[in-house]
Amino acid sequence: MEFECIILEIKEKVGLITLHRPKALNALNDQLMNELGSALKSLDSNEAIQCIVITGSEKAFAAGADIAAMANYSFMDTYKGDYITRNWETIRQIRKPVIAAVAGYALGGGCELAMMCDFIIAAENAKFGQPEIKLGTLPGAGGTQRLPRAISKSKAMDMCLTARMMDAAEAERAGLVSRVVPQEMLLEEAMAAASTIASMSLPIVMMIKESVNRAYETTLSEGVHFERRLFQASFGTEDQKEGMAAFLEKRSAVFKNQ
Ligand code: HXC
Repeated sequence: MEFECIILEIKEKVGLITLHRPKALNALNDQLMNELGSALKSLDSNEAIQCIVITGSEKAFAAGADIAAMANYSFMDTYKGDYITRNWETIRQIRKPVIAAVAGYALGGGCELAMMCDFIIAAENAKFGQPEIKLGTLPGAGGTQRLPRAISKSKAMDMCLTARMMDAAEAERAGLVSRVVPQEMLLEEAMAAASTIASMSLPIVMMIKESVNRAYETTLSEGVHFERRLFQASFGTEDQKEGMAAFLEKRSAVFKNQ
């Protein structure tokens, strides 16, 4: 597959996608989002891959949807044609874990894309924001929904209504990101986390992702019920037998993804 707006690399069991429109601070246009969707789907169906990392540049993870591309769209373009957001949901179909490694700006759609990933590791220079209000519009790829779930209603309202940016330290305190690391360590740390996940049993990893995501979609009792079924299902895997035998035999587990 030939890509122009992203770079796709395979590093052992990890697929690394780098957003690459440096002149526009990785502004997310249709082509980039199409390429990202294709790359994600190809990694998800590649049996050799067990985890995915999405990153940007040192200056910008992504500075948002491409303002130049959408400035003149009409309501019909955006509603009937679904021009802006039509290819933004592919990432939600991905069943393997996706880690966002964020340095620099993650604004608007860039912040929303990071939040669509399973967790975010941030560099110390990361800045998150939903500045759409300054453009006369609002977050359109989940920002008003995922931010309150991630960081509370009060902080989400503050960010979406004032357009202020949140730095990495505040984002970590608020729970938006799972860890903050020095900028030069960002990719190393994200790839190490991805490699750790990739050393586990893939079907169990997928079950955990599915179960944690369920917490956002359902009641506590339904979510616990769903988790219980997957927990029970794990006892039907060879990897559960191997994992527990390895512990009892005081050796490392060798998972077969079965
Ligand atoms: C198109 C963008 C862009 C964007 C930056 N650029 N962000 N182009 N869409 N979102 C371009 C600039 O036009 C400029 O191009 C080049 O990238 C460098 O940007 P500068 O502004 O010169 O850099 P700097 O002064 O360092 O400021 C960085 C910045 C600023 C603070 C990130 O660029 C900025 O405010 N960008 C817009 C952020 C934003 O409003 N995002 C939300 C978009 S709406 P030239 O050709 O002049 O060099 C959105 C809605 C999502 O995301 C809805 C769901 C899909």
